[in-house]
Order: sequence, then C-alpha cells, then structure tokens
Amino acid sequence: MKYYITTAIDYINGKPHIGHSYEKVASDVLARLARLSGKQTFFLTGTDEHGAKIAEYAKAQGLEPQAFADQTYKYFEDAWKNLDLSFDRFVRTTDPDHLATVADILKKIKENGYLYEAEYSGLYCTGHEAFLTEKDLVNGLCPEHQTKPELITEKNWFFKVSNFTDQIKEKIEKGEFKIWPEAHRKEVLSLLAQGFNDIAISRPNVKWGIPLPWDENQTVYVWVDALINYISGVGYHSDKELFKKYWPADWHIVGKDIIKFHCIIWPALLLAAGIEMPKGVVAHGYLTANERKISKSIGNVIDPNDWVLKYGSDAVRYFLMREIAFGQDGDVSEEKIKARYDGDLANGLGNLVSRLTNMIEKYSHGEIPEIVEPHDSLEDVLGMVESFRFHEALARIWEAIAWANQYIDETKPWDLAKDPANKEKLDEVLSVLGAQVKLVGLSLSPFMPQTAEKIRRVFESDAISKIEPLFPRVE
Ligand code: MSP
Repeated sequence: MKYYITTAIDYINGKPHIGHSYEKVASDVLARLARLSGKQTFFLTGTDEHGAKIAEYAKAQGLEPQAFADQTYKYFEDAWKNLDLSFDRFVRTTDPDHLATVADILKKIKENGYLYEAEYSGLYCTGHEAFLTEKDLVNGLCPEHQTKPELITEKNWFFKVSNFTDQIKEKIEKGEFKIWPEAHRKEVLSLLAQGFNDIAISRPNVKWGIPLPWDENQTVYVWVDALINYISGVGYHSDKELFKKYWPADWHIVGKDIIKFHCIIWPALLLAAGIEMPKGVVAHGYLTANERKISKSIGNVIDPNDWVLKYGSDAVRYFLMREIAFGQDGDVSEEKIKARYDGDLANGLGNLVSRLTNMIEKYSHGEIPEIVEPHDSLEDVLGMVESFRFHEALARIWEAIAWANQYIDETKPWDLAKDPANKEKLDEVLSVLGAQVKLVGLSLSPFMPQTAEKIRRVFESDAISKIEPLFPRVE
C-alpha cells in the first residue's frame, strides 16, 4: 500500500507563522501514522516562490526575486525541521524539475486544445494572487488584505475549466474524489452547479514567473505554477518511477480559503493534461489570535520557532492538534499553549512517566515485572486520526493517562512496598501501569515523536530509573 500526502506550499513574502504550521503538523501526523501502519509513504511540502507578490517584496528589499527567494524559502524549511516534520521532499517552485514540469503540462494542455487567447479586464488582488469580482469587495477594498485591487486589462491565455466541471462533479458524487469536511464538499458542488468561468493561466506583465513555452512574453499564472508542485515534487519530470508509484495523491491538505483552486482548477488542469485526478482534498479552518485570522497583513503573527524554543516541538505539535477541532477555526495564544503545557503535558503525561519510572526504580530494582495487558486498548484512536479527528484522538489518549495517574493514587504503590506480603499486588500494579504507559507512547508517536521515543527507550533499558522530566517547567 502507498500513501501520498501533501500540504499547501507557502508564499515566501514573510516568515512562517503558526497558521502555516498548523496544516504542516496535521499532514505530518498522517504521514507518520501511514508509515507506522506499514504503508509506503511520501510526504511533500515546499514553497510557492513566483508571482507579482514575491516580486514586490523582493524589490522592496532591493533584491532580485531569485536572490530574495533563496534567502526566504529557508525560513520555511528550517521552521518545518524545527517542528520535526518528516517530509520526503521540500519542493521549491524555482527548482529546475518543477520549471520543466510546468512547461510540459502547459504544452500538453495546449496541444489537447484547452487553451485560447482572449483579452480580459478585471480587478487583481496581489495578496490573493487572483482576480476578484466587485461583489468580493467591501468599500472598494479586498476585505482580507485591506488593499485596493488593481484594474488590469490584458491579453491572456485562457483555460477551459468549463469543459471539465461535469466530470469533476461526477467524481465527487461517486466518492472517487473526496472532499472533507462535508460542508466544503457541498460548497464545491454548488460552485460547480453555478457554472465555473474559464480562468486566465498566463500573465503578460508579470516577469517573475515561468515563461509560457510558446510565448516568452507571458509567464504562467502563479496559481497554476504552484498547483503543479504536487506532481513535480513527486518526480513527474525527474523520477518517473517515483511518480508512477505515488500519483494520484491520497490527500492534499489545505486551508479552507484555497478550496476552489484545489477542488476545481487543479483537477481540471490534470484532466486537460490527461493525468489522473487526486483522490481527495482536506480543508482545515483558520487559526485566529484574539479572534482574528493570523496573517501577515493583519500583523498578529506568532512565530512557531519561538514556541518551539520555549516549549519544545512536541508540545507545539500537541497544542495545535489538541486545541482546535480540525476543520473548524480556533483561537490560539501564549496563555492557551501554556495552559496545555502545564496541565496536559507536565502534570498529566510528564508526571505519570516520572512517577512510574521512579516507582519501578525504587520498588522493583528497575525491572518491570512481566508485562501484562494495559487497562485501555486505545483501539479507537487509529480511526479518529484517519478521519482527521485529531483533537478527539488526543483527548482519548489523555483519558488513558488520567486513568493511570488515578490508579497510582488509588493503589498507593508506596504503601504496598512497605510489606513484602504485597509483592504480588505491587508487581501487578506496576505491570499494568507499564503496559498502559507503553501503549500511550505508541499511540502518541505520530503526534509527539520525540516523547514517544523517550518512552519507548524507558521500557527497553535493562534497569529502569527515574527519567528526567519530559516537560520541564517553563517560565
Ligand atoms: N501559495 C498558496 C498555496 C499554493 S498550494 C498549491 C497560499 N499560500 S499561503 O502562504 O497564503 O498559505 C499557505 C497555507 O497556509 C494555506 O493552506 C493557508 O490556508 C494556510 N494558512 C495561512 N494562514 C492561516 C491561518 N491563519 N490559519 C490556518 N491556516 C492558514 O495560499
């Protein structure tokens, strides 16, 4: 069995913020789980580096776009490494094999007769890298970026999206193309029912982009360029075997703002090029800070690296997956991560593991008596993760942790240890706890790989001794 999962690729005009991190962590949890389940797994992430927006930011810094991109993409790659993301490739839209793939796909679409030239006039929002309509605006401004879109009249190459809408609709209805959650599936079906306009796939006045193979005066529209990363990143041009093995993608994980691009335009481009559609798209909600979407334009960004330095990558991963119901919006803040850290992690899991290892050292010569069955089976956790109910999965695991802490309080191993007559009972208590903690560690490993590894090692050692706190106090 194979499993191919992708994230959206981020614009590199700013540094990565906690909102960008969210879907990366969720995708990593799924990728790690797939690997643990024995599936051959490919996990792709990367950066979206072309287009008018990036060119503007580069210019403001007095840099050529390529030099700017070479500096800024690193912030993303480093942040994702700091968060322990197990990506198999980090694709940049300036990578040579990506450039070649984009040229190839556009040529195919043109040869297949799905492109035509037309003059177009519209309101372009550089923040969105997309044309907006009058009804999208509030007081003449883009409501998300608070900027006035530019009225542009130009000659572009257009893509006949409309030729494919019936086919996409059918695939969705048959369940061959899945969209999660259901509300977004309905939204896409209703967009398709309304009739979807053809889109411009080239821009004559944007220099920072991939030239159209047959018309060097135009560059490929940045969204078309970016979407193609999902095939270039898995070897479409550079490693045909790899591509054959992994395409179509099992899941594209993206934010709800870019559903239309992923559920309509991307499948249409693939069909036009004669390539299979992906199997599914998962849309998550927005992270907000003080109830406003976290974004560079709003200026309320939280740097994931700051939290990783302070709390550790596992704690940040835990917080993001536990705090918000995937698919919905959720508010994050320093107070909230601190509360989860102190409560769930330090007092809950951390305390349990220190108490248990301490007791095994003291009352059982560092040896865990024969391992028995744990109290919980946690067999429902797998299904929860596979259906994107990450917060429920973690809540379930924390029930097992709470049970174990309570079991210690009730059985009082320190009292049992006072009388050799209780040896059998003491052994049983420590065994059940050992089994329970081992299972908790295993279930946690897609979410908190480092913590899981520490717990695993405890039970592999010949003489178990009290371990260093897993989650030391943070000021
Ligand atoms: N470059 C495009 C995606 C191209 S994919 C072929 C883009 N970039 S982005 O940097 O604006 O956003 C990248 C991802 O981060 C998107 O999935 C977006 O929804 C997500 N998020 C950006 N801000 C977010 C929050 N505040 N909260 C949660 N996710 C957010 O769109």
